Amino acid sequence: MNAGIIGVGRCVPEKVVTNFDLEKMMDTSDEWIRTRTGIEERHIAEDDQDTSDMAFEAAENALKDAGITAEQVGLILVATVTPDQPFPSVACMIQDRLGATNAAAMDLSAACAGYIYGLITAKQFIENNAYDYILVVGVEKLSKIVDWSDRNTAVLFGDGAAAVVLGKVSDGRGIISYELGSDGSGAKYLYQNENDHIAMNGREVFKFAVRQMGQSALNVIEKAGYTKNDVDYLIPHQANIRIMESARQRLDLPPEKMSTAIKKYGNTSAASIGNALVEELENGKIHDDDLLVLVGFGGGLTWGAVAIKWGK
Ligand code: COA
Repeated sequence: MNAGIIGVGRCVPEKVVTNFDLEKMMDTSDEWIRTRTGIEERHIAEDDQDTSDMAFEAAENALKDAGITAEQVGLILVATVTPDQPFPSVACMIQDRLGATNAAAMDLSAACAGYIYGLITAKQFIENNAYDYILVVGVEKLSKIVDWSDRNTAVLFGDGAAAVVLGKVSDGRGIISYELGSDGSGAKYLYQNENDHIAMNGREVFKFAVRQMGQSALNVIEKAGYTKNDVDYLIPHQANIRIMESARQRLDLPPEKMSTAIKKYGNTSAASIGNALVEELENGKIHDDDLLVLVGFGGGLTWGAVAIKWGK
């Protein structure tokens, strides 16, 4: 039996910052941001709403959706590059707040690919029968490391959290194939600088992402024994609509078969794919037995993809 997603949840901070709001803060325009990135607005956490607060809310919602108690969780994995502090981990903070008294807990760092890394790590423990239920959370408060005077990066990012509960699902369903990769030689293209701000070479990241996302998506489809014509829905990391479009075109999918949650949320890094998954479930875009491809890339450089047959 495969591990699969049996519950989802998210936390979207209330405050919305539109492109027009950004026009008042820096030399940019709604037109530039929309046409170059696909982003219209993003949600930004309040000063007193830290990463662990968003992770906790998303996790609580996922447990409720899965219909299990916190005590049943065997492991909590939190993917983030913006923890409240280097230690204790966000995973330990929410372990306590949730009352997940039987759970081990750790954070993992794979930037925007962190959610995929989390899913695949959790899959191993479930399929080895080490744990019945694992909570995976992708969460970021990027607003605290964005350089708000740098228009090259400030317009791209948002805050939020997305969580899933993984457990065993019925035969043929669940995470049916995956791929993970890294290339540390590209670390210089996207990193946290000496001022603790996000520093990025946008063009290099763009080229890497266009190359990698489509290829990883095709790889997991093939590993699962399918072809691109079998794919029902694509959820790429929500970083830039033009990068996402290139992945969609490599799979020959029509526009309605790809999530464009980026419009409302921007790039929420480790939360982006999970947030888009919840968004499209709520939009009624995902059905039992659909073949989904989730694919991400990020600083590191890192990348990862999964093929999922949806349903419990
Ligand atoms: N508003 C207005 N103009 C802006 C701008 C902004 N927010 N940001 C950059 N510009 C300007 C640049 O200064 C440049 O002006 P110049 O030609 O006078 O020098 C011009 O727009 C074009 O910049 P360029 O970098 O070529 O734009 P682009 O089409 O490559 O788009 C990104 C820039 C950042 C949107 C794009 O490279 C990208 O999305 N890269 C990937 C980033 C990413 O996904 N990061 C997260 C990975 S997890």
